[in-house]
Amino acid sequence: MAEQPRCPVTAFDHHSAEHAADPVGAYRKLRSECPVAWTDAHGGYWVLGDYASVFEASRDDDLFSSARHESGGDGLAIVIPKAPTAFHIPIELDPPQFRSYRKIVNNVTSPAAIRKLDPVIDRFVTGFIDEIIETGEADLAFVAGVPAAVTVEWLGLDASEYKRYVDAMHTLVSAPPGSPEYNHAKDVEVPWVEKTVRAHIAARRENPADDATSAFLKADVDGRPMTDDEIYSILELLISGGVGTTASLVTQSLVWLYQNPAERQRLIDDPGMLDIAVEEFLRVFSPTQALARTVTRDAEFRGVHLRAGDRALLSWASANRDPGQFENPDTVDITRWPNRHMAFGLGVHRCAGSHLGRAMAKAMIGQVLERMPDYEVDLDRIVPYPDQGTNAGYHSIPCRFTPGKRRGAPLFPAKS
Ligand code: HEM
Repeated sequence: MAEQPRCPVTAFDHHSAEHAADPVGAYRKLRSECPVAWTDAHGGYWVLGDYASVFEASRDDDLFSSARHESGGDGLAIVIPKAPTAFHIPIELDPPQFRSYRKIVNNVTSPAAIRKLDPVIDRFVTGFIDEIIETGEADLAFVAGVPAAVTVEWLGLDASEYKRYVDAMHTLVSAPPGSPEYNHAKDVEVPWVEKTVRAHIAARRENPADDATSAFLKADVDGRPMTDDEIYSILELLISGGVGTTASLVTQSLVWLYQNPAERQRLIDDPGMLDIAVEEFLRVFSPTQALARTVTRDAEFRGVHLRAGDRALLSWASANRDPGQFENPDTVDITRWPNRHMAFGLGVHRCAGSHLGRAMAKAMIGQVLERMPDYEVDLDRIVPYPDQGTNAGYHSIPCRFTPGKRRGAPLFPAKS
């Protein structure tokens, strides 16, 4: 078959160091030159960069599949290149199989279910800030502990081991593949998570409790209970979804608020503005920058010819700065409304944890502004993730602030 012409793009690679240095600029260039572009990086893939294309593709799961397919090797197909992770339900299923699993997940992530977690969120936000508040200096990346501890406790696991879950799940998406920390996560921490979570599922089968894992054990999928493997698959996805994304959102927001003191003061003076501000932070910082699909059949799509098996990267981050959709897209306007960003994705796979993510982000930013209102970031020493292709954010954000007083009980009370 004759090679189809592909709209050219100059050496786009969302995992490259150049991209990590300026993802916003790379996507701006892509959108203006060729919003649906082909790149030869990583075996070749389409990059969808404008709002309309990402919108259309994410709602057409018949043509753009999230499932694992043979093409390009086995592995998690919603990232490029495919990653050697465990199978994750429901993110790797297409409709119709997808639906009954997603319904089960929705039951534990609905707004009403998440509201019940408010005291847990507040306890951990208070506790993690207590750990540093008397010192006057800290690494603001400490906030990564909050979503990890909340998620782990919500599932009924031991929250005092939150760091091991961060080391496993967050490191896999933020450290360069092959680096010592990546290999440690893959070879030591991920197997530990699997062993611990599987033992937890077995224990809850014997003795159910009031937690999300027990809710999954009670749930029916197509008239039968789920197997341990299915439940493990969901739990691992919830842990990996819950741990890194919210930390990425909060750390980027806090750095920006330091750089924009007048906007920080507005939020300190009127914390009620945080609801709308967080939507703008989601839009401009897009913690999950881009995820992938596999094309299921030959088709015309927005002026290009797709072929069955082609891989496609849907960039939520780029869509979120499309000037065709957002006025002055590069201006961070904490009062922007309406704000139809796609930071949580779109279509059937739209983030199941959006209510939890928002609740944790608001609690964290709100309490940092309240208790450490004069924090100063040492911009020369902040360490961004070396790879910003899938997840954007910072490893380290050294800061100073006027010390304050502890408020709460110990973060993890000693076990009797
Ligand atoms: C700011 C925080 C968050 C962001 C930006 C975010 C982003 C996303 C995005 C873009 C997707 C779409 C995936 C796709 O289309 O392939 C997604 C899916 C998902 N997220 Fe989140 N997420 C966040 C927080 C969370 C939290 C806290 C949890 C759970 C504890 C979570 C669990 C999930 C799950 C289970 C899915 C898969 C849904 C499905 O396939 O039906 N996320 N998330």
